[in-house]
Amino acid sequence: MIEIAIDGTAASGKGTLAKKLAKKYGFVHLDTGLLYRKVANELIINKKDTSSNLAYHSCEIARNLNLLELNKKELRSEETAKLASFIATYTKLREILNSKQKEFVANNKTKFPGCVLDGRDIGTKILPNADFKFFIDASIDIRAKRRLLEKNISFLHENDEKCMLHSLIIEISERDKLDSSRKTSPLVPANDAHVIDTSFIDAEELLLKVTKIIEGI
Ligand code: CDP
Repeated sequence: MIEIAIDGTAASGKGTLAKKLAKKYGFVHLDTGLLYRKVANELIINKKDTSSNLAYHSCEIARNLNLLELNKKELRSEETAKLASFIATYTKLREILNSKQKEFVANNKTKFPGCVLDGRDIGTKILPNADFKFFIDASIDIRAKRRLLEKNISFLHENDEKCMLHSLIIEISERDKLDSSRKTSPLVPANDAHVIDTSFIDAEELLLKVTKIIEGI
């Protein structure tokens, strides 16, 4: 099975790239951020997000997580992302979710010719021997604008849009800082990853660049 590992900063375009690659090659895809978001979302729904035993509750939820029940839409809020990033610092939680991700790959080995996983520690931890590793980044301003567009909000006032953009810049920067500085599996490019800045290229250009690397053109 061909393994493609995609890591990168929040809203850098890694998720879109992963989806497009999986579609192009008929590979199975897992957005690993959804696992952390799902645990965070369950904590919020069950009012456990302010518990003094957050690590314990996170691990309990993670153990029972079904990877086939990850509804992307309900997990997209910034509140969920912020808590996801916070709990992602727990070593025990990461161990549980890492096993689930590795299980997902093993279970699909005979069903698909390849897999694409995107997240923060795919090239360094989950698929250390991946055939291809990519690390995707872009400037914070561009990433915040992309996240705002994803939200599909029609603003009545230009000022409201500016305000939302400003909040997103702060939220995304804080999350990047936490993800990059945590002790367990920090967000860093694997030594053998192709590092690509998408500040000035769109999703199609990125796909083209990456497929050229994969196909050795
Ligand atoms: O879509 P976006 O890049 O904003 O975030 P995500 O991929 O859904 O991930 C949400 C959070 O989960 C990240 O900020 C990380 O803290 C955490 N995460 C992680 O630690 N390891 C992964 N493999 C994937 C996500």
